[in-house]
Amino acid sequence: MSLKVTLPDGETIPALGQGTWQMAETASRRKHEIEALRLGVELGMTLIDTAEMYGEGAAEELVAEALAEQRDRLFLVSKVYPHNASRQGVVQACERSLKRLKTDRLDLYLLHWRGSVPLEETIAGFEELRRSGKIRHWGVSNFDIDDMKELVQIPEGESCVTNQVLYNVTRRGPEFDLIPWMAEHRMPLMAYSPIEQGRLPRGGVLQGIGQRHGASPFQIALAWLLQKPAVIAIPKASSPDHVRDNRRALEIRLSPEDLEAIDAEFPPPKRKRPLEMI
Ligand SMILES: NC(=O)c1ccc[n+]([C@@H]2O[C@H](COP(=O)([O-])OP(=O)(O)OC[C@H]3O[C@@H](n4cnc5c(N)ncnc54)[C@H](OP(=O)(O)O)[C@@H]3O)[C@@H](O)[C@H]2O)c1
Repeated sequence: MSLKVTLPDGETIPALGQGTWQMAETASRRKHEIEALRLGVELGMTLIDTAEMYGEGAAEELVAEALAEQRDRLFLVSKVYPHNASRQGVVQACERSLKRLKTDRLDLYLLHWRGSVPLEETIAGFEELRRSGKIRHWGVSNFDIDDMKELVQIPEGESCVTNQVLYNVTRRGPEFDLIPWMAEHRMPLMAYSPIEQGRLPRGGVLQGIGQRHGASPFQIALAWLLQKPAVIAIPKASSPDHVRDNRRALEIRLSPEDLEAIDAEFPPPKRKRPLEMI
């Protein structure tokens, strides 16, 4: 269970953060979502993942309402839509996100997925934002290995610090080639939907291991990710109990026998599987 993960430039960031997809979509849940985000930060989950897409800006506004006063404690991540990712478009989208987030900078800005805008343009926009101090780092999301290889061939493409992808115990495809390639480039992977959106199988090995550790299957699935040296997990929890459970996953140490049992039920890939997306 690593507490910190290292970016290619040596900066360390929290291995366990908080997602915000589907927050700010139901008025009656807003209070709990704000409480949950604040509690998570209090417990050290200071990396916050959001996007201009989430609630069409409403999730970024909710993050500001919950956390703007604690800005300096946060590692704030947002994402640009592919259709906004032209050189000028990326700068303008970032400025809109900064306004909604009530801050003057993002710690990390990601291209949400690859669209039709040439990567050269998006990188030029990211680099302009970096020079002006509006973002500190940039990265990508939902890029499979061929996209990553193409990205780093482009001038300044090597400045990419991470790739946020669907990765959890039931979705191990990235282990075949993407994770080893990223490790060679000293890039940590940011795992989204780390507990499969709450749809992990009931019963089975995760439950059995959980009973031995006094933990739920969700905590075991998170502990499995957090035990990897270069993985950041960003579970979304809008209930304070879930936030506390997720934080406790950092304290679980899975044994070699636990890991073997997980491999038997959720085998690592033996051949290439195309990157999956949610
Ligand atoms: N880059 C991309 O394309 C992309 C795609 C998907 C997601 N993401 C990011 O990744 C974040 C996480 O992924 P996700 O939201 O798809 O799914 P997730 O984090 O795997 O699962 C969230 C669901 O699990 C529940 N939950 C949280 N902690 C739990 C616990 N300890 N025990 C039981 N249930 C628990 C939540 O319920 P409550 O809310 O009721 O607590 C929610 O229903 C997103 O919020 C977003 O920031 C990025």
